[in-house]
Formats: sequence, structure tokens, C-alpha cells
Amino acid sequence: MRRKLAAGNWKMNGTAASLAEVTALIAAHPAPRSEMLICPPATLIAAMAQAAAGSALQVGGQDCHANTSGAHTGDIAAVQLKDAGASHVILGHSERRADHNETDAEVRAKTLAAVAAGLTAVVCIGETEAERDAGATLKVIGDQLMGSLPDTAYGKEVVIAYEPVWAIGTGRTPTLEQIAEVHDFLRDELAIRFGTAAAEDFRLLYGGSVKPSNATEIFAIANVDGALVGGASLKAADFGAILSALDAS
Ligand code: PGA
Repeated sequence: MRRKLAAGNWKMNGTAASLAEVTALIAAHPAPRSEMLICPPATLIAAMAQAAAGSALQVGGQDCHANTSGAHTGDIAAVQLKDAGASHVILGHSERRADHNETDAEVRAKTLAAVAAGLTAVVCIGETEAERDAGATLKVIGDQLMGSLPDTAYGKEVVIAYEPVWAIGTGRTPTLEQIAEVHDFLRDELAIRFGTAAAEDFRLLYGGSVKPSNATEIFAIANVDGALVGGASLKAADFGAILSALDAS
């Protein structure tokens, strides 16, 4: 069975004072059924990992470099995230693909680096609104999935997050049928590439305007194994409510 995963992406939000939200989250959810993960900005990873020590909360990065060290000013290697206390790293988020022109090949190289460092990679894919309107969603998603995953990808080490770009931070979400269509498609594509049994091991997260009020209906969809949550992960009460909905699904 796939263990469900509630993952929070704080993006470029939070300072040391924000760790109070994590303390509150841990206190309210000492033993969730689902895996619980927060990916703060890199500046907070070590302090958050320390605050989370001995609890069910796991801490992740939001990006890593494909190399293990070297002359890459401003970048962070996967081994450094691991060293700071991270267990996961988000890769290929649409904001990085847009702001930093990250390609599928780069995301694939980063995924290899993350797994080699002992991190679980949360690989993000998703179509733009124009691509959906053009009827190209499954083609775009399929290409991103194939291009971003290395041949050695394995469900215990790699999680996939489907995040329609137009649903991120907008309050808009796809219909439940649209989410189900993409997640079923992803499972089928994984089966074609990695085999049916291996495909069952990959967790497929939905992301894009997940909030306490829509979490339960999204988590009821067959191939949705959790969520990648942006805005609603910044407050312990909201993220805790989403986690509870996942635990109950
Ligand atoms: P959102 O962001 O929940 O604020 O829409 C999701 C994400 O970008 O991971």
C-alpha cells in the first residue's frame, strides 16, 4: 500500500518566527496516518529539522543542484540538503521551470542527484491554461513525466506531483473529473514505462489551490495519494485540516 503524503511548499515565505507554525502542527498531529512534510525556504531547513526532531514531521528542500559540489554560486547540492536535515526535495516546480527555465532534462538530473543523496524527490509536472485550452494536457503531462523521471526512478524514492499551472495560487482547481483523468493517465504511463507492479508504488500528489474546504473531495479520487500544498501550508491550522482530511480518506 502507498502511504499517503501531505506535503507543504512554503515557497519564498517564512522566517525564524514562522517555526511557531511547525511547533503547533507537530503538537496537533503527533501521530498522523499519512506522511507529513514541510518544505521551507533553504534558510529554515536546519532549524525546522531541529524543531521537528523526534516528531512525525519531515522537512524538505524546494530545489537542488544536479552536482554534488563546485562553483555554482547560490545553488545548493542535494547532499547539503540532506546534511541540513532534509529528507525530501521538491524538483521541477512550475515556478522554477518558469523563473529559471528549468527543462525536463535538468529536472531528471536533479532527481538522480537527490536520490543518490538519499532524498525522496517530489517531481512536479503540470500544464498551463493555454495548453489545457488547446486540448494538449495529457500530451504535455506525459512528455514532462517521461522527460523528468530517470529510468531508475522507483516509487519509494520518487513522488510525482500533478500541479496544473493555472491552479497554483489562484484559488481555481480543476474539476474532480479532470484531476481523476490526469492521475489515471499518470498511473497508466508509469505502468508502460516501469511495469504494472512498480507503477503502483509511485505516490501521485495533486497540487494547486488545495485547502481545507476542497481537500476531502480531492482525496476521495482513486489515484490521488496526497497533496502538495502552497498557500494553505503556511498556517498550521489549515495544513493540519488538510492532513486530517487525508488521514480520513
Ligand atoms: P497553492 O500552491 O496551494 O498555493 O496553489 C501549490 C504549489 O505551488 O505547490
